[in-house]
Amino acid sequence: MNNVMTRLRCDHAPAWAALREHFESIGSKLDLRDAFRRDEGRFQAFSQAAPHVFADLSKNLIDNQSQALLMELARECGLERHRDALFAGEAVNNTEQRAVKHWLLRAPPGDGGDPDLALVHSTLDAMLAYAEQVRGDGAITDIVNIGIGGSDLGPQMAVAALESFAAEGKRFHFVSNIDGHELAAVLRRVRPGSTLFLVASKTFTTIETMTNARSARAWFEAEGGRDIARHFAALTTNVAAAREFGIATTFGFWDWVGGRYSVWSAIGLPVAIAIGAAGFRELLAGAHEMDRHFATTPLETNLPVRLGLLDVWYRNFHGFTSRNIAPYHSALRRLPAYLQQLEMESNGKRVDAQGRAVAFATSPVLWGEPGTNGQHAYFQMLHQGTDVVPVEFVAVRKPAHLLPGHHDLLLANAMAQAQALMQGKADDGGHRNFPGNRPSSFFLLDALTPASLGALLAMHEHRVFVSGSLWGINSFDQWGVELGKVLALDVAARLGSGDAAGLDGSTAGLLRHIRG
Ligand code: F6P
Repeated sequence: MNNVMTRLRCDHAPAWAALREHFESIGSKLDLRDAFRRDEGRFQAFSQAAPHVFADLSKNLIDNQSQALLMELARECGLERHRDALFAGEAVNNTEQRAVKHWLLRAPPGDGGDPDLALVHSTLDAMLAYAEQVRGDGAITDIVNIGIGGSDLGPQMAVAALESFAAEGKRFHFVSNIDGHELAAVLRRVRPGSTLFLVASKTFTTIETMTNARSARAWFEAEGGRDIARHFAALTTNVAAAREFGIATTFGFWDWVGGRYSVWSAIGLPVAIAIGAAGFRELLAGAHEMDRHFATTPLETNLPVRLGLLDVWYRNFHGFTSRNIAPYHSALRRLPAYLQQLEMESNGKRVDAQGRAVAFATSPVLWGEPGTNGQHAYFQMLHQGTDVVPVEFVAVRKPAHLLPGHHDLLLANAMAQAQALMQGKADDGGHRNFPGNRPSSFFLLDALTPASLGALLAMHEHRVFVSGSLWGINSFDQWGVELGKVLALDVAARLGSGDAAGLDGSTAGLLRHIRG
């Protein structure tokens, strides 16, 4: 039996009980303002430099004792062994009996002994050569990525994040939804002769993607498009299905890359077209640096470990139900959606790896919008609402624009929000009172570059691994998305026939209303 099945679930570890006791006696009463007054070294002790990312965790509701107990918990639960099993290519995705090796996609040639590395690099070289060819092809002005979930969110987020590194003269469109309005709106803006469609689907069976791909091909032909081979490419592990669909240009990847971990694979082609082969290699290199940090740094100074443990502390002891992502960089506008899939599809599980119901909470809800916009929308609730929501600020020291004044004001706002959440403001206890003591983390990058983005994303992947590991769940399957897919096929047939037999009252009622 591999260690996936034998590792100790966090709630069975002695440190779990010690943490509960610590939380009840001291941890729950921690006041950040006092903590800073008492300890001049708090910023130092609770901030952490990692490759390309500096994290100030000092405004979180932790003290030395909770941190030490969380480390103990991680050790008792075999986190290090589990992490090593991940990097050794063991089948840590035990419900599908698959290895989990997205990290291998960013390993340099010749690094370690994994037998798949040579294949990774030959595929990467081919994909990047193709990306360069498209970049140099002045006749192609529009790239339309058709994919959903991990086959959309990663490339969409990264293309936006790295827009200041992107080639001139190429427009990128992302079509994910089965809602025809989305594809129709894109097709109105492009012409067949100047468009490259990328059909991105790990399985090449996802109904949204297949429906959109068929409609795009039908539009292409109806509009007089010629040469499907030049205007369609597929990014998939199911190369045979892509060929059957009529797409000859395919870039493959492997079943050991989960959809939400696939931006580093052929699914990243739109990113490579946008920023070029060298830029894409920098993205991989930045992520690889974070992989090394996670794989080799002692737990106490390991940023993804500290974050994952903080997530456990907040979810299981403080009982916080959500986490807010506040990127203070408009190019990171899709980061919250990307992280939402990463965290919630990975750790939104109610049974452990052995299929037993867990007796504690798992994934929080992730949500967010770029700052400063969020300040004028939902920050009211963060400051004065009844729920405490840990906030994660993401900011860069150096902007990619030259407009005077803006960046200092942006950074000042991010810092001031974090400060206000913590400091609060005493008033009459009424409408103008800010309770304060509300936690936040502050992630600072030197600049938003391919390398720093790679490191930031890898940091989040590994922190999700850490909390999932302690919770004893399998972070790499997603059985919870299956039921709705099956029922949608049944309902689709009924929308055609009007047959409501055996349906629940609400679905039958809706069916009748929709059919009119
Ligand atoms: O339905 C969920 C899911 O399987 C995600 O995990 C995945 O990223 C998405 O669908 C798209 O899947 P595919 O790349 O196979 O089309």
